[in-house]
Amino acid sequence: MCGIVGYIGKRNATEVILDGLKKLEYRGYDSSGIALSIADKLMVCKHKGRIVNLEEDLKNKNTESDLGIGHTRWATHGAPSDQNSHPHMCKEGKVAIVHNGIIENFVELRKWLSEDLGVVFKSETDSEVVAHLVSYYYKGDLLDAVYQAIDKMEGAYAIGVISSDEPDKMIAVRKDSPLIIGVGDGENIIASDIPAVLKYTKDVYLIENDEVVIVTKDNVTILDEERNEIERDIYKVTWDAEAAEKEGYEHFMLKEINEQPKGIKETLERRLDENDHIHLDGIKITKEELEKINKVYIVACGTAYHAGLIGKYAIEKFAKIQVEVDVASEFRYRDPMIDENTLFIAISQSGETLDTLAALREAKTKGARVLSIVNVVGSSVARDSHDVFYTWAGPEIAVASTKAYTTQLVSVYLIALYLAKVKNNISNNYYKELVKDLKEIPDLAQRLLSDTSKIKEVAERNYMSKNAFFIGRGTDVGVALEGSLKLKEISYIDSFAIAAGELKHGTIALIEDGTFLVALATQDGLYNKMLSNIQEVKARGAYVVGIAKEGNEEIEKQADEVMYIPHVRDELTPLLSVIPLQILSYHIAVLRECDVDKPKNLAKSVTVE
Ligand code: AGP
Repeated sequence: MCGIVGYIGKRNATEVILDGLKKLEYRGYDSSGIALSIADKLMVCKHKGRIVNLEEDLKNKNTESDLGIGHTRWATHGAPSDQNSHPHMCKEGKVAIVHNGIIENFVELRKWLSEDLGVVFKSETDSEVVAHLVSYYYKGDLLDAVYQAIDKMEGAYAIGVISSDEPDKMIAVRKDSPLIIGVGDGENIIASDIPAVLKYTKDVYLIENDEVVIVTKDNVTILDEERNEIERDIYKVTWDAEAAEKEGYEHFMLKEINEQPKGIKETLERRLDENDHIHLDGIKITKEELEKINKVYIVACGTAYHAGLIGKYAIEKFAKIQVEVDVASEFRYRDPMIDENTLFIAISQSGETLDTLAALREAKTKGARVLSIVNVVGSSVARDSHDVFYTWAGPEIAVASTKAYTTQLVSVYLIALYLAKVKNNISNNYYKELVKDLKEIPDLAQRLLSDTSKIKEVAERNYMSKNAFFIGRGTDVGVALEGSLKLKEISYIDSFAIAAGELKHGTIALIEDGTFLVALATQDGLYNKMLSNIQEVKARGAYVVGIAKEGNEEIEKQADEVMYIPHVRDELTPLLSVIPLQILSYHIAVLRECDVDKPKNLAKSVTVE
């Protein structure tokens, strides 16, 4: 997910484009760039890092222009670097493009362009093919060249194109990636999202799929695939930029919670072929090397560590390989037993968490094979690993991690099933059933998110609690820990999670009248055990909120209230059971008037020890 902006009109294009890009940084912020039409030439300036780097460099350049395109990047193909930043240009420097999305068939197109047409690529990106395709088809008509180029391309894209030969227009195209046009008086702006134009206009055209737009100072022409002109009503925006960045959600955390079905789907489906075989892209570890693996470490911090706990369960259950999970800040100083037959799995959303990075480097020096599960492409953890498995959660802005967690869970399930297949430790039937059920998770998560009113009510009845407890058994323990962390970090309620069977060994002493306690009972095999644990705490006066699968209503006799999740096999419940806990914490934090997206004392990425 990147952000594109383009401007043509009476103002200084540089200013409008930089403004717009800053408003789109929530879509990606690892590099940015701009292309300006100046004196019938195209001037491109692009840099790795936040937009300030670009602004810094533009300071000592002539940027007076009335036409330009810009981009802020969320790397997918090619790590963040000046070269991989957009805009990309053709060989002659006459065509410049910005792109948001993924050109699925870019490998073949790069091959054809370089081997048959002698194009020399400057970047590792999929996007650069667009610039060379448009240039190849350009015979004096930019619109025609763009149509011919998109005819060759497969995938998702929102593209902005300018040419030094036609400085009176820009061409924009939409297929599956968002595109809007901000309509002004003597000026028009193309952008990935509304926040980018709101400073200049509240009149926008919402561009539909497979539409191509010719944008000049005084006109916006929308065409369909057959180049027929389309009439479109202006949409008048009623909300402000901040709200738009959150796409109408009050907080980034709530937006990101609701983006989980999409993140899970993307992280899953890109790794499954039509026969449900798993392909771990970016993983170069061979079957022979995997066969030698006799120990797996999963090391991470915070929420990522909690995903690791489910990873241990999945790898031991499916692949029958022993797994040790550890918090990175401890792992790196305890001289762990590691050798060349050790697989070290690091999990990190940001890829910059110092403890995780240091633990990874420690393992590497001791000969381990390092595989990391990371959300930020090209981040330090990714760069220092032998193999990287990217989660496709998109940028996670809220400090409290939600969609990164569930995409990390999908990742550990996929890796566990892949290892199980390589090690031949899983029956075909069981494998097929698990993959089938995994593929149903995005819809089940969407169904769960479609009605969260009950969870909000539970929050309204408990948001004044001074402390809270989370209990569970089996994989529910890992989810209880995650639920407790979410509540702690955004509502500042003193919260504690523990394996339900451990309660009677001490912690139950803290349970008293009205103690707020969340009991996860999603494991069919441990359901009755959990019911008796709930009776234990009820006997001490706890106010119990149960989490159970639809259809398992026995718990209603024990708990004060129950939040249900769709029925799914025990092994996969963490992907769903965490969602009510995220939403519960969110509503409690809002009711306590906490700064949900930027909680006190916390940072999105902890780059210090
Ligand atoms: C989770 O909500 C927190 N933001 C924090 O615990 C986080 O998970 C931890 O700092 C690890 O971050 P990482 O995944 O970016 O490495």
